Amino acid sequence: MSEFLIIGNWKMNPKSNILGLKIYKDTLKIIGPTIASKNKYLETAFCIPSIYLPELIKNKKKNLNIGIQDAYFESTGAKTGLVSIEMISTYKPMYALVGHSEVRARGENNTDVNQKTLEYLRKKIKPVICVGETDRDQYGAYLNTIREQIETALMGVARKDITNISIAYEPIWAIGKNAVREATAAECFEVSIHIRRVLTDMFGVKEASKIKILYGGSVNTNDAMNFIEHGGVNGLLIGRTSLVPKDFGKIIKDIYTYAKNK
Ligand code: PGA
Repeated sequence: MSEFLIIGNWKMNPKSNILGLKIYKDTLKIIGPTIASKNKYLETAFCIPSIYLPELIKNKKKNLNIGIQDAYFESTGAKTGLVSIEMISTYKPMYALVGHSEVRARGENNTDVNQKTLEYLRKKIKPVICVGETDRDQYGAYLNTIREQIETALMGVARKDITNISIAYEPIWAIGKNAVREATAAECFEVSIHIRRVLTDMFGVKEASKIKILYGGSVNTNDAMNFIEHGGVNGLLIGRTSLVPKDFGKIIKDIYTYAKNK
């Protein structure tokens, strides 16, 4: 298991699979062959629109993996417009985002997140479970929101699957173009400790320590290392910046160098 995990979330971008492939290949070029090969310092992946899977999976290199952003937990049925995890699993993506706030905003609840998590694990796809509060209150109620999101998402997860799970902390107020402001590394640190505590309550210290905690929300080339060094996290979930190979590539290289020289 590598020390850090960096996931790019392309969301509903780019406009075509040809452009997607270009982003993928340009990023590979920037990170270079050493980081693009499996190593103990970091692992990376792009979570892409699932329609691009056939093209991108064909061109995949070992350490720049491919994942998806969402799929449904039932295998087949009367669900117009949906694609199931079972269908997706044919392409063998490595990761899947679960419970992203933009999916929750379209009606997904904690129980759905749990069903999807369990189905992804059954299909050998690693779930990256996204949690985070809409806004912060001064009494710390947002910590309870996060606890509930994690406890429900992980209901029924077997111990043997723990290493296949990551939790991404994404405060909704810090995500996307409409972000109120960026979170600070100190705010990230507070929540990463809380998440570790919730996981420890559920699985014990040893098992909980195997779960990677990522930070996501307007991460860019200027603040990425700050979250890694001072945010208490084991990786990043990056939206907009992951579409810009030179920036995403720089973040990957910086984290690799940091992990190597630690
Ligand atoms: P952002 O998106 O980096 O563009 O804020 C992060 C996410 O929503 O996963």
